[in-house]
Amino acid sequence: MKYNDEFRNIIYGGDYYPEQWLEEKKQIWPEDMKRAQEADINCFTIGTFAWSFLETEDGKYDFSWMDEILDLMYENHIKAIISTPSGARPPWLAKKYPSVLRVNAERQSYIYGGRHNSCLNSNDFKQKVMEINTHLAQRYAHHPALTGWHISNEYNFDCHCSACQSAFQCWLQDRYKTIDHLNHCWWNSFWSHMYTDFSEIESPTTPCSLGEKYSPAHNLAWKRFCSDTVIRFFEIEAAPFRKYTPNIPITTNMMATKSDLDYFEFGKHMDITSWDNYPDWHGDERDTEVALKTNFCHDLIRGTNNQNPFWMMESSPGAVNWMDHNTLRIPGTVLHQGMQALARGSDSVQYFQFRSGRGGSEQFHGAILQPDGNPDTRIFREVCDVGKKLKKLAQIKGSTIHHKVALIYDWNNKWALNYAWMGHKVDQNYEETVYTHYCALQYSGIGVDLLDMKSDLSNYQAVIVPMGYMINKHFIRECQEILKRAGKIIFSYLTSYVDEESLRFAHVNPIEEMTGVRIDELDAIDEKRDNYFVWKNKTYKVKEYAQLVTNISSSILATYCKQFYQGKPVITEKKAENGTCYTIQAKTDSDFLRDFYSTALSEFVKYPGLPYGVFVTERSTENNTWLFVENTNHFACNVNIPGRWLNI
Ligand code: GLA
Ligand code: ZN
Repeated sequence: MKYNDEFRNIIYGGDYYPEQWLEEKKQIWPEDMKRAQEADINCFTIGTFAWSFLETEDGKYDFSWMDEILDLMYENHIKAIISTPSGARPPWLAKKYPSVLRVNAERQSYIYGGRHNSCLNSNDFKQKVMEINTHLAQRYAHHPALTGWHISNEYNFDCHCSACQSAFQCWLQDRYKTIDHLNHCWWNSFWSHMYTDFSEIESPTTPCSLGEKYSPAHNLAWKRFCSDTVIRFFEIEAAPFRKYTPNIPITTNMMATKSDLDYFEFGKHMDITSWDNYPDWHGDERDTEVALKTNFCHDLIRGTNNQNPFWMMESSPGAVNWMDHNTLRIPGTVLHQGMQALARGSDSVQYFQFRSGRGGSEQFHGAILQPDGNPDTRIFREVCDVGKKLKKLAQIKGSTIHHKVALIYDWNNKWALNYAWMGHKVDQNYEETVYTHYCALQYSGIGVDLLDMKSDLSNYQAVIVPMGYMINKHFIRECQEILKRAGKIIFSYLTSYVDEESLRFAHVNPIEEMTGVRIDELDAIDEKRDNYFVWKNKTYKVKEYAQLVTNISSSILATYCKQFYQGKPVITEKKAENGTCYTIQAKTDSDFLRDFYSTALSEFVKYPGLPYGVFVTERSTENNTWLFVENTNHFACNVNIPGRWLNI
């Protein structure tokens, strides 16, 4: 992570679209600067969707307005994160270079419109993006307002055009080297799908269309390819900035769990990761759940930045416009949302957007200012209040969060699991499952870092693996090391079913020695066939998934109580090396996970006895620790925190 050293404050501001107000810039721009100052805003992201205004026709550039607004921002002590415009294209570009338009899985070509829908393997698109980015890099490299580069916007990818087919084939060749190896890894002896050449392979189609759609390995390869395509494209976009401004951080805004990109991999390519935070705040008691979900995403993005500070790139100061019910933010929510980001490791509080436009599909989306620019609004006052508070917290910038417990969330695993023909085919509920474990840990007062199965676990003393279906050798080694360090591992049902290529294990399951149990069968149960178990004199329900195992060398802590699998292990423990490996063989309600983690991981509870809905985090530097106490209830709570703290 590289920081512009002059920027000592928490970044406060957000997306600003001065190009939407060009006609009235003489009046509106200075007014915007004034309001920004009143709100203690110190940074705007500009240029995100400004391509039409930067390149009015092919090769005809106009940076005059951007020069002007950047100067104006600088005069008003507002820094700039300059965004590349590739998130949306001008109409002339699609007309002149039709290869930029995506083709969907049914092989139908898009027509011009919308955004986030360019083909990232189109040579024309790569060329045009590289050109405009080079202009931006050269022109603004030494502008004193520049503090960061924001590449594109909320990347996603799925294009099936001919350029993408070729790129996919090259990607496969690169990964598998020979067609024989691919046939082996994809188990193409099944249904006689033996390829003789990479050129025979096409992208998979959707479940309801013609073409290949059943092969788990093929589908998984496509997901990996799409994710890699975005990363490669990002590298093309970032190259001019790396060249001309090696000390200015580069990021792109992620979407946490809403995305199908491997963000842990993607994060390695950024100087700082960032994300767009849009919680569905209700303004009532449901907000504890909403806050937890938000914390999960913050923790995940921190994970993609190797636990270093990240940026909350967007959040809405008012109601959004795209949910089923666009609830307003009740008084105090904006402050909560901002402080919550800080508490989880963000070094910024940014909004979408500063002033909303008069038209377009987001004309009614929440903003700091409405199109009339009136500052006499509740939202503007709250935004000003947050600005004042953040100014006092500048010292927190750069401090980090460290936990000893890792919870695994893995995109490759999620894809593989969702393509597996087994269990609950409609939805294996991977995300919801990891999140349930997360909530149980948070309610137990156990702070966690979210990591994937490619991560380095050498700083951790415990790892929790919910539904770790696709396991790899590196991860198994990391787990063994944890045991050697007298640490703890918790594997749930549906863990270690396939290797990295989604092939089942032909010999002993690689986690069998650690767990001391052999996996026999998996039952995807419906509500009518319930089961339960007793642990420490309390009865817990089993739902959705029940795995049947044979005990080999573990201690059985609880067994199923009903049906033919009565007496079979549900909770096991094996002391191995110096550590302990637990397994949870069935899906339970969160009450069990809470009780279990409070006991099995009790040494990681730092602040015991917190009231319901209160969460504590610590950010530290070498010399200081800042404690955040987040009360997600809409009423005051008494909290007993040991030690002496200064209220800042
Ligand atoms: C996303 C986008 C923004 C805007 C907001 C609206 O986060 O990045 O451009 O569309 O959603 O909520
Ligand atoms: Zn394409």
